[in-house]
Amino acid sequence: MKIFESLGLRADGRRLLVLDQTQLPGQEVWLDGGDPDAMIAHIRALRVRGAPLIGVAAALSLAWYAERGAGESDVRAAAARLRAARPTAVNLMGAIDRMLEAVTPRLDADVLVAEAEAIFEEDVALCEAMAGHGAPLLTDGDGVLTHCNTGGLATVGIGTALGVIRRAVERGVRMHVYVDETRPLLQGARLTTWELGRCGIPYTLIADGMAPILMRAGRVQRVLVGADRIARNGDVANKVGTYAVAVAAHHHGIPFYAVAPWTTVDLGCRDGGEIPIEERPGDEVRGVRGSFGAVQWSPDNAPVYNPAFDVTPVDLVTALVLDRGVLTSQELRAGGLARLAKPRTVRAV
Ligand code: MRU
Repeated sequence: MKIFESLGLRADGRRLLVLDQTQLPGQEVWLDGGDPDAMIAHIRALRVRGAPLIGVAAALSLAWYAERGAGESDVRAAAARLRAARPTAVNLMGAIDRMLEAVTPRLDADVLVAEAEAIFEEDVALCEAMAGHGAPLLTDGDGVLTHCNTGGLATVGIGTALGVIRRAVERGVRMHVYVDETRPLLQGARLTTWELGRCGIPYTLIADGMAPILMRAGRVQRVLVGADRIARNGDVANKVGTYAVAVAAHHHGIPFYAVAPWTTVDLGCRDGGEIPIEERPGDEVRGVRGSFGAVQWSPDNAPVYNPAFDVTPVDLVTALVLDRGVLTSQELRAGGLARLAKPRTVRAV
């Protein structure tokens, strides 16, 4: 396997390493992720997270496994387990399907490695394309609100929504980013702040419920978020809390953009109601845990509802910024995503 390095993933020719995102920003701990069962545990625990990243990481882990002599039935079984590691981000299923296509008609480790490398390189290019389409939407002096983490930690490139912000800043657009903390797992407070700090982009961290106050005060001109799965009609599943932000943005007349690669689009889901939403353990809401340890503030038996994602209806989405271009809400409702679909080049066998 080639030598790869992204913010959260490294392949050094021998090992496949993942940055444990649950330890950030306190510590930078790199863990082995080559073995598919280790990778599944990392993905389930959100040590590896973000829709595009989990697809790339799963593909690399299958390639690592095949390179070490795993047979076809073991690779297929590991692929099935990886596919089920998290249910909402369709990038994971898409990457696994590509790897399984590469196993057909028979397993050849070199072919599998080449496919995983292509998935990695394509994700970098998809991020660049989204950044190119999205950056012109931001104007000098903007206050930009974002939710969850959508940067180099969630992809292997510069990111989706955060990639757009970075590209605009690189082009000289001055802006201030408002970062939702993103309860319950605090991807905004822990990860987006860390990334923005590394890039030198000015930001203010807020608790999730504070966004509407800033909108009302005229301090937010645009909202930019990522996506975990986009249905054919343009409904967007993303980190829980996104829908509330979209409702508030709509109320205040603020443009709301979702930024995602084509690998996040699922034309097989007619609308957001068909997107499977992951429900996670109640302890994530009863308290909080991280590199600082664990704190629980609710009774042990407090009943909890903990969907990891919500769906923002297309009516609240001003536009989708894709690597293939920008589609407005109106274009989405008129079937724009289906029209933008083009068949992927399939390997000759
Ligand atoms: O549960 P997570 O942290 O994997 O959720 C991540 C998000 O919801 C992101 O917004 C999404 O994956 C898009 S970022 C590239």
